[in-house]
Amino acid sequence: MDEGITLDRFLMQTGASHPSATGQFVTLLKQVTLAAKMISSRVNRAGLAGMIGATGETNIQGEFVQKLDLYANETLKRNLEHAGVVCLMVSEEEDEPVHIPEPFVPGRYVFCTDPLDGSSNIDVNATIGTIFGVFKRKSPDGTPGQLSDVLDRAGDEMVAAGYVVYGSGTLLVLATKESGVNGFTLDPSVGEFFLSHPDLRLEPSAKMYSINEAYRAKWDPRLAGYIDSLKAPELGFTQRYIGSLVADFHRNLLKGGLFIYPSTASAPNGKLRVLYEAFPLAYIAELAGGSATNGRDRILSMKATDLHQRTPLVIGNSELVAQATAALVAD
Ligand code: AHG
Ligand code: MN
Ligand code: MN
Repeated sequence: MDEGITLDRFLMQTGASHPSATGQFVTLLKQVTLAAKMISSRVNRAGLAGMIGATGETNIQGEFVQKLDLYANETLKRNLEHAGVVCLMVSEEEDEPVHIPEPFVPGRYVFCTDPLDGSSNIDVNATIGTIFGVFKRKSPDGTPGQLSDVLDRAGDEMVAAGYVVYGSGTLLVLATKESGVNGFTLDPSVGEFFLSHPDLRLEPSAKMYSINEAYRAKWDPRLAGYIDSLKAPELGFTQRYIGSLVADFHRNLLKGGLFIYPSTASAPNGKLRVLYEAFPLAYIAELAGGSATNGRDRILSMKATDLHQRTPLVIGNSELVAQATAALVAD
């Protein structure tokens, strides 16, 4: 009888293969899974649960905070702070790093998250998501987390990254160096995630590009030239852009494609954030056989010097990322 592999079972099987593991890593991922189920349930009922619309607040980036942004942020914090697995959290919705409150005990990991990505799509029932990346702390176990546990660290140092898409179904994608990239679909009738996309690899043939063309007049002309080149009819490209990074990335991962959020004259570092958007998705892209750059250098070689630092992002199939990056640095 094949009842499928639950995410829980997958974590226990893969976690058990690491004798040095203390169990904290598996517990962290289980708590994230629980938070994802709670957020998914709330997203599905948002129109009924009074969760549509803005709170009236703006976050550190000056963006309007939606009620679901806050719910997702609080849910992740609440599920992680008591479990003894995290010493520090970094969130798009928190100006400052989040420490572990008494009486709970700080654990071995730093959790960076965009609790709800694609906020502008909440009110229209389009796909949104949660993005996360995990570092192992550098400061001594058992002590409060330090900024140096997350700043000035290369994306390569992450030990896991993942995202959850709340779309027509809810899917959690988890990437670790040991197990690669695996996707799990939530069966809402059971309340469990089941392995549905084992060993995800970027589809090798890529015929889609994703960029907000409304900003074309603000682009570097070399980028405009490259995007124009993709429009040659014989190349057979089409364009898809939802406006939720996580959904655009997920589609491109399954179908093959290139996503770009470039620098512009008015925003030289683009819009997306290093620690909880670019790093996690770059980590997943590379483990799935793709790549990610900031238009010049590899994303995972960067080091964040600020919690909410932004970066341009060019991500997806390696060949297309290389082409776009070459075009952007050409004389
Ligand atoms: P968030 O909702 O977490 O603030 O992120 C929104 C981001 C990202 O998801 C998306 O790719 C991008 O904003 C879309 O921005 P534009 O409307 O400027 O294209
Ligand atoms: Mn976001
Ligand atoms: Mn967000």
